[in-house]
Amino acid sequence: MSKNLEKINVPDSLKKVKNIIGVFSAKGGVGKSAVSLNLALSLQEKGLKVGLADADIYGPSQTILMHASNQQVEVKDQKFLQPVNKSGIKFMSMGLISNDKMPVIWRGPMVSGAVLQLISQTNWQELDYLIVDTPPGTGDVQLTLLQKIPLKGALIITTPEDVSVADTKKGIEMILKLEVPLLGLIENMSWFSPKESNKKYFLFGKDGGKDLSVDYKIDLISQLPLIETEGLNVIYEDKDMRDEFDQISSFVVKKIDDLTEELSKTIPQINLPND
Ligand SMILES: Nc1ncnc2c1ncn2[C@@H]1O[C@H](COP(=O)(O)OP(=O)(O)O)[C@@H](O)[C@H]1O
Ligand SMILES: [Mg+2]
Repeated sequence: MSKNLEKINVPDSLKKVKNIIGVFSAKGGVGKSAVSLNLALSLQEKGLKVGLADADIYGPSQTILMHASNQQVEVKDQKFLQPVNKSGIKFMSMGLISNDKMPVIWRGPMVSGAVLQLISQTNWQELDYLIVDTPPGTGDVQLTLLQKIPLKGALIITTPEDVSVADTKKGIEMILKLEVPLLGLIENMSWFSPKESNKKYFLFGKDGGKDLSVDYKIDLISQLPLIETEGLNVIYEDKDMRDEFDQISSFVVKKIDDLTEELSKTIPQINLPND
């Protein structure tokens, strides 16, 4: 477990970040960005210091979700990007520093280099949690994130739909190969219930994510309904969703604490002199 952490040189900007979590799924449109943001908000509500890095360079939707499109990013000491502070969360996204058209023509290695730079050259300072929202796919960017960013663990997001489950399986296989611990799986858009009704409509099939979690022995953290957002960007503003995310963030904190304890037992702790 956590063999990934032994191989990584931690960039200076991440040395005061206690826990980095990657939110993965090989499929787009399943709710990675929504879950990343709402998890970040929920962790913050528990009094934790939280950052959110939007690594989806092709479609950096977090800037829109966070109403941050007009924010200017400052550069500190000509070296570090200052994260934007939004609702108490430190936030950085390619969407803050690029224009609309630029990244579309980039090749794989350029994109993964840029994503790595974005995360490792942001002045995060002290954080309890940094959530990394990833783009869809199982290519260069995901590989780079898994190999170069000291992730404590990965969260998997899928809808119950067959096509999403099939893609997500590939994502899980990649993460397993790179020995990053799987924190758990969240099935999103599991059903829809109209207001004033308890009837559940399973629009994308039933339990596809749950079954996947059983196949891979991953904890199923939650099955989230599809809700009518009425123009809300933050699904967490819905009372039931807020309660769900409260449980999700508690689960994540507990899981990370357990992993950290396990790690401290397997890696000998050496006290280095202060430099
Ligand atoms: N449970 C949900 N209920 C309603 N809308 C949702 C839910 N989860 C995600 N969405 C919406 O679905 C769209 C796709 O989600 P997003 O998080 O951008 O997916 P991804 O990051 O995986 O591509 C967004 O508009 C998002 O706000
Ligand atoms: Mg996204």
